[in-house]
Amino acid sequence: MSFAVTTIIFAFLLFTFMYFLFKLFLHSKQKTIIHEKPPGPPTLPIIGNLHILGTLPHRTLQSLSKKYGPIMSLQLGQVPAIVISSSKAAESFLKTHDIVFASRPKIQGSELMSYGSKGMAFCEYGPYWRSVRKFCTLKLLSASKVEMSGPIRKEELSILVNTLKKAALVGEVVNVSEVVENLIEDIVYKLMFGRSKYEQFDLKSLVQEGLALIGAFNLADYVPWLGIFDLQGLTKSCKKVSKALDEVLEVILTEHEQAANVNKTQKDFVDILLSIMHQTIDIEGEQNLVIDRTNIKAILLDMIVAAIDTSATSIEWALSELLRHPRVMKKLQDEIQNEVGNKRMVNEKDLKKLNYLDMVVDETLRLYPVAPLLVPRESRESTTIDGYFIKEKTRLIVNAWAIGRDPNVWSENAKEFYPERFVEKKMNYLGQEFESIPFGSGRRRCPGIQLGLITVKLVIAQFIHCFNWELPHNISPSNLNMEEKFGLTIPRAQHLHAIPSYRLNDAKLE
Ligand code: HEM
Ligand SMILES: *[C@@H]1O[C@H](CO)[C@@H](O)[C@H](O)[C@H]1NC(C)=O
Ligand SMILES: *[C@@H]1O[C@H](CO)[C@@H](O)[C@H](O)[C@H]1NC(C)=O
Repeated sequence: MSFAVTTIIFAFLLFTFMYFLFKLFLHSKQKTIIHEKPPGPPTLPIIGNLHILGTLPHRTLQSLSKKYGPIMSLQLGQVPAIVISSSKAAESFLKTHDIVFASRPKIQGSELMSYGSKGMAFCEYGPYWRSVRKFCTLKLLSASKVEMSGPIRKEELSILVNTLKKAALVGEVVNVSEVVENLIEDIVYKLMFGRSKYEQFDLKSLVQEGLALIGAFNLADYVPWLGIFDLQGLTKSCKKVSKALDEVLEVILTEHEQAANVNKTQKDFVDILLSIMHQTIDIEGEQNLVIDRTNIKAILLDMIVAAIDTSATSIEWALSELLRHPRVMKKLQDEIQNEVGNKRMVNEKDLKKLNYLDMVVDETLRLYPVAPLLVPRESRESTTIDGYFIKEKTRLIVNAWAIGRDPNVWSENAKEFYPERFVEKKMNYLGQEFESIPFGSGRRRCPGIQLGLITVKLVIAQFIHCFNWELPHNISPSNLNMEEKFGLTIPRAQHLHAIPSYRLNDAKLE
């Protein structure tokens, strides 16, 4: 063979080799760029990272994010998950890419308790959810509806203030947690069912149990074949709570159906929901859906669950922090005193003028976002964000608790209760700010923000205006226990107790 031919063959082979090498290199490089998951802790077979979550997952996830970053991968059994722990990442996922993450995963808790997730909060993204959300936002939760329900809050609070006045006279220690939870339950009863409490049901406890169950990391959701054994006993509990809740809802609906032809001056939530019974929801060209009794029960249940515990928990945390910080308590009391005087109770019109109250509430929600991991979301399609590839049906967990306590955003005193940090920074929770997201953000943001905020603000203002509060004698402000329990929400682990003394000058309350 001539030298020239050898050279040509050699060059050809070399070229081919280089070509494949180049392609391989390019390909694998593309592959790593597109298919790289966010960093995360090492996983075990079968359970992935489920074993590391512990009893307070929001705290565990916060410390893990310090190691793996604000966008972190977790493997929850067979379910891939992304955990978001900074406001910048939250903006990227809940604003820029909101539409991709606007769905909810199907979890056993809501499947069993919320009639196959037919309500609003756990419903998958789509035309049904959109219609339900639109209806509820417009007919139940709009600003004018919230304003119209003012007399209910006023009346229930007056009753409570009178009760507390009696306790104050004898210097009694009041179970503040109990009093606040019962108050909110009474308000919800009036608003949603148009009546006072049923003595035969303990709806509040059922809802609290339900929330703990829905928030739990349930093996059945992550390792379905292990779920059959119900090792945590959650399936059994869900079924039990679900049955009890259904009985309550049946009684409520039946009562309203029987009273339907009586003229009512003010329609409650159930009346309004029943008005869409048998209506067809326009599912935009797809199969139409007729609203039935199950849909109505599911929607009503979601509203009850979302309303009954959230406001009460926020108020309990706020009052706890006020008791720990006499300076803040005094400043708030002075503000209300200046606006309202000491001859009457606070009314809802006064709230607009109480700036320091707004700051106290913003600070409470920053440190104690009622749903510390919001409500889980699920990606509807595969996508790439900040160079990371995120598969379809990935669970999105937003650590609102960690975001509110991020020292890079809230400075070194991030863990401290210091309402003055909001002097220059008014929060409106409308989805433009991500430094503190107690109501979530984007399409799935809480639709009850106005109702929640007005309730929380009015109750705190009234408590602080009508009474001076002291901790029981064996507890000092610095050693009040501030531990939390974890469920879908984070209530206080220990109930709050305090001693009121009445401070207004009037003989009668208006
Ligand atoms: C202080 C009070 C409240 C807080 C802190 C709060 C917080 C939240 C949070 C964090 C979410 C999840 C948002 C997300 O996934 O991005 C949510 C959803 C929801 N909230 Fe609230 N909430 C409060 C009061 C209320 C009230 C009074 C109602 C109604 C009566 C309500 C109804 C709902 C509903 C129906 C959803 C589900 C929305 C959906 O999935 O489309 N909330 N809330
Ligand atoms: C305080 O109230 C809570 C909630 O209603 C209740 O579970 C608890 O037993 C009460 N604590 C005391 C000491 O009565
Ligand atoms: C309800 O009230 C309206 C007017 O107030 C009256 O015309 C109507 O007949 C009443 N309906 C019933 C069922 O009582």
